Amino acid sequence: MKEYVDLLLINIGQLLTMESVGPKAGKAMQDVGLLEDAVVGIANRKIVFIGERESASGIQAGQVIDCQGKLVSPGLVDPHTHVVFGGSREHEMALKQQGVPYLEILQQGGGILSTVESTREATEDHLYEKSRFHLDRMLSYGVTTVEAKSGYGLDVDTELKQLKVAKRLQQDHPIDLVSTFLGAHAIPHEYKEDPQAFLTEMINMLDLIKKENLAEFVDIFTETGVFTVEQSREYLKKASEKGFGLKIHADEIDPLGGTELAAELGAISADHLVGASDHGIQKLAETGTIAVLLPGTTFYLGKETFARARKMIDENVIVALATDFNPGSCPTENIQLIMTFAALKLKMTPEEIWNAMTVNAAYAIGRGEQAGQLVVGRQADLVIWDAPNYHYLPYHYGVNHVNTVIKNGEVVSKRREVSDTTSLSSKS
Ligand code: NIG
Ligand code: FE
Repeated sequence: MKEYVDLLLINIGQLLTMESVGPKAGKAMQDVGLLEDAVVGIANRKIVFIGERESASGIQAGQVIDCQGKLVSPGLVDPHTHVVFGGSREHEMALKQQGVPYLEILQQGGGILSTVESTREATEDHLYEKSRFHLDRMLSYGVTTVEAKSGYGLDVDTELKQLKVAKRLQQDHPIDLVSTFLGAHAIPHEYKEDPQAFLTEMINMLDLIKKENLAEFVDIFTETGVFTVEQSREYLKKASEKGFGLKIHADEIDPLGGTELAAELGAISADHLVGASDHGIQKLAETGTIAVLLPGTTFYLGKETFARARKMIDENVIVALATDFNPGSCPTENIQLIMTFAALKLKMTPEEIWNAMTVNAAYAIGRGEQAGQLVVGRQADLVIWDAPNYHYLPYHYGVNHVNTVIKNGEVVSKRREVSDTTSLSSKS
């Protein structure tokens, strides 16, 4: 143990270490590595010790934060977002109210294609500033690592523009950003009659994307009226040959079999899965492809049926949660709201929800060894919550419970002086 630390957190009511040797499935998702009355020491941007109150005695600290009995957790990880986009789509609200389905709005040239138009028009600098604004908001909600997809360009120049914005933000913003190429997000109007030619154009971008280190993963929207399972298989196989990790927007609206495809191809994650079949769920469990569930999207699309999280967890699928932040099907950066949807609509326990937004979320984007756990030697990404216990967040919904966000050992977001919130409810 060190004699001197840069930052010392004392009087932590509940500390969720989330310590784990790998992603968690089944019953293992009930463990949050809970320590009570704990302290954490940070030096050189890393966690240098974690222990009970007494372990901090005699330690010199540059700065001490008295957490006054609050909850402290790892920084949250949001493993599925479309954070780089132009414009917004509030005009679709009236269509939604009239009951026009999401895929029909897309068929009529709206939806994703409306955002494509705005994104093509935007300058790189404008997109950068706009995405930065959204990332700032995510950070304020306690998120310290985020995946960012392209997919609102659907042409070479605009897709590259989006990926470059993500790369600049990875360099400039406190949040760690993991980039995914989603060129196959919709069929642009200029290729309406020849989707195959469009996919070839997107495939032809992969060498440059690799060379410029613009994305780690390749994703595709496998859906009715977008890309078929066969097209997706061919496309993703080529991406895999070129060294990219794979992701699929699978069985989001219609149950086409994207879940099975993700397992078959050894994708790192299969995302959405509202219509995943029993067989698909079994395959995810067998292969370890992570299920990234997005209940905020199901809610916003006005669906009654949500992904079968209970069955997935009971069958030992590794489950993660994300916002899916995007301008069409889930316009919110508020990952804490997703906790409430996960509790009420997916019937996940608080412990499962915390695992799904930390450890498992980090593994879903290839950051399992860096983010999502509070372990000595790791980068110090932590959140102090205005909450007396970890059950509190899914319960008290719609507001931001963050008190302080620490990213790489630095306080990057702070709401107000730490005040005593243990009186909000009894500890549990
Ligand atoms: O994950 N389904 C495809 N992509 C996004 C929505 C994108 C949009 O509507 O702009 C999703 O739901
Ligand atoms: Fe998405």
